[in-house]
Amino acid sequence: MTQTPDTQISELSHKHLLGLVDYSDKEIELILATARQFREVLYRPIRRVPTLRGTTVVNLFYEASTRTRISFELAEKRLSADTVNFSASGSSVSKGESLKDTAQNIEAMQLDMVVVRHKSPGAAHFLTQCVPSAVINAGDGAHEHPTQALLDLLTMSDKFETFRGLNVSIIGDIMHSRVARSNVYGLTTLGANVTLCGPSTLMPVELDRLVDRGGVRITHSLDEALEGCDVAMALRIQLERQGSNRLPSLREYHELFGIKMSHLEAHPDLLIMHPGPVNRGVELESKVVDHERALILDQVTNGVAVRMAVLFLLSGTRAQPDG
Ligand code: CP
Repeated sequence: MTQTPDTQISELSHKHLLGLVDYSDKEIELILATARQFREVLYRPIRRVPTLRGTTVVNLFYEASTRTRISFELAEKRLSADTVNFSASGSSVSKGESLKDTAQNIEAMQLDMVVVRHKSPGAAHFLTQCVPSAVINAGDGAHEHPTQALLDLLTMSDKFETFRGLNVSIIGDIMHSRVARSNVYGLTTLGANVTLCGPSTLMPVELDRLVDRGGVRITHSLDEALEGCDVAMALRIQLERQGSNRLPSLREYHELFGIKMSHLEAHPDLLIMHPGPVNRGVELESKVVDHERALILDQVTNGVAVRMAVLFLLSGTRAQPDG
């Protein structure tokens, strides 16, 4: 998938990346094009460029993470930035320090950018009012996870000529999914059709607003969601966010909404994605996770390149991606 010259811009109009809801198609295309350039760096013998030398980035993680956290840290190192990692556990948060105070104290050590993951929706936006640094949302509650959606878009763009008319089904726990929200915004902005599929008890209350954007439809039938679908994105069942009992059982969920080998056989061109971590045997049959048409590890690789691109574009540096 390539940019046409008349769609090219050279910089973002935003200081922060809080979500994809207000990013334009040109801005998203710029991030993807920049990520493609940075991805090439990951395969060099020396996987490092001096692009962000002298820039200091703090990674504030108030919630568990494997992929996003390691990916941001690697992206920062690949760009030669100085990085500081903060975990809520073992910090003064356990002594009652607020997010604002923690951020302002860390900022007082002279930082340039803040990456934040937090269980509260709006935490990244709140930080923009507390510190002067550029803020990147690494997932805020059930609100948005913009860099995940961007890496998903990059992964799809490797497989398809255009997003226009692409049919993507997002399946599972839509209600609690920041990944679903960011993907709906990103995919529809680029012209893809999105089907949201899951049990009615796991559909968000603001569904009408998502549908009103155009290009979004709802179904509670997995067969319907997979008919004519190019990419099926299964979402993790978020056991930690369920609150009340919204699912009869994980076995029944798998029966009704789990993607199985029989689905891959019935849809020979269907590609499978999942943001991770996967509950094998719940969202996806274990053999599907390991199938050649599952792009899950490509998504992880693309995460580093996308985060390099976002860090570079929000850093304010005018240096070229390769130095
Ligand atoms: N996809 C994702 O956000 O994974 P982590 O929770 O491991 O960062």
